[in-house]
Amino acid sequence: MYLQHLHLINYRNYKNQELNLNRGINVLIGANGQGKTNLLEAVYYLSMGGNFRGNKDLDLILWEQPYFRLMGQMKKDGSERCYDLEIYVDKEKNKQLKINGVKYKSMSELHNYLRVVLFSPDDLKIIKGSPAERRRYLDAVMCQMDKGYHRLIRDYDRIIVQRNNLLKELQYKQQNRIQLDVWNTYLAEYGSQIIYRRIQFLKLLIPMARKVQQDLTQQTERFTVTYHCSMGAIGDFSAEQIKELFEKIIDQKLGEEITRGTTLWGPHRDDLIFYLNGMDLKRYGSQGQQRTGILSLKMAELQAFFKCHGEYPLLLLDDVMSELDDSRRHYLIEMVKKNKIQTIITGANIELLTGEIAKDEVFSVSEGKIIIK
Ligand SMILES: Nc1ncnc2c1ncn2[C@@H]1O[C@H](COP(=O)(O)OP(=O)(O)OP(=O)(O)O)[C@@H](O)[C@H]1O
Ligand SMILES: [Mg+2]
Repeated sequence: MYLQHLHLINYRNYKNQELNLNRGINVLIGANGQGKTNLLEAVYYLSMGGNFRGNKDLDLILWEQPYFRLMGQMKKDGSERCYDLEIYVDKEKNKQLKINGVKYKSMSELHNYLRVVLFSPDDLKIIKGSPAERRRYLDAVMCQMDKGYHRLIRDYDRIIVQRNNLLKELQYKQQNRIQLDVWNTYLAEYGSQIIYRRIQFLKLLIPMARKVQQDLTQQTERFTVTYHCSMGAIGDFSAEQIKELFEKIIDQKLGEEITRGTTLWGPHRDDLIFYLNGMDLKRYGSQGQQRTGILSLKMAELQAFFKCHGEYPLLLLDDVMSELDDSRRHYLIEMVKKNKIQTIITGANIELLTGEIAKDEVFSVSEGKIIIK
């Protein structure tokens, strides 16, 4: 896919900026605090309907302005058809999505159009951070791949909220037990589906990541990721077997859950564990090894998207080039060029990319304005 035109109005430090993007590589160069990440963030927003730095929508509106508007024009591979994406957000908390002029209620509609893989220094938290960070990562990738999964996650979250309320009520009144049975059924049904789909997706993603890691390290590093299920070992269980295990746990542990007033087992408590040559990467890996692991994962994401959708998503590389050594940087640029993946790279200077990037692929960013070099 290809984002050909971008228009930002009152977005972060951009007042009114239009930009024609190259089909291949686009490099944004500028000093700190000029708006490089803001631009990547806008592209990400047009894909995910939200921002990746954890800000509220209101933080994204240019100071003293009442709203922001983002517009993108894109094409899918193998078709000349243009899609217009438009997002409007204002201080009154109105948030509106239009695709080709038609309004949509849910931002998740965007997953059918613009897809992105983002790689930023912050991604180290996928390995270093809490289990919640890893679940968020996995769910975000899977939601872009599969709309059904997005619905599943949303419904599961609602079930957890309702069930937790009920568990708290049951601490002092017993009459809601029948209602709890209903929520238990939903919990096991939806929860087992989520776990099963996550494991199936990892079966696709991990071998790809392992292959990239081997290429990057001249076959010396074996990278792998395992799914840690809070309910116990699930091996190669079918969705039905996971559900049976879930029902058993609910049955056995209900007393504990009522005492604690919360749902203690399920996919919202699961985790991913990263290994390098059998070593736990979070506990023992160096910063460079952790970063390479993330790079492998991101490259695998690109391939997994291609496998699922027959085209590559956009690749957004925020400030990561300076953190990679020459061979890894070269691998990345070669992979992007070979597969014709539209890529936006930000960085403070161009030196690192000299020789690999053409002049017309570079834009300079200064005080919320983009200057074509
Ligand atoms: N809502 C907003 N309105 C106006 N300006 C904003 C808003 N939010 C952030 N900014 C400004 O945007 C700038 C930061 O932009 P950005 O994060 O894109 O920088 P950058 O070019 O990526 O810098 P670095 O190289 O340090 O990563 C800051 O100067 C900040 O003051
Ligand atoms: Mg930045």
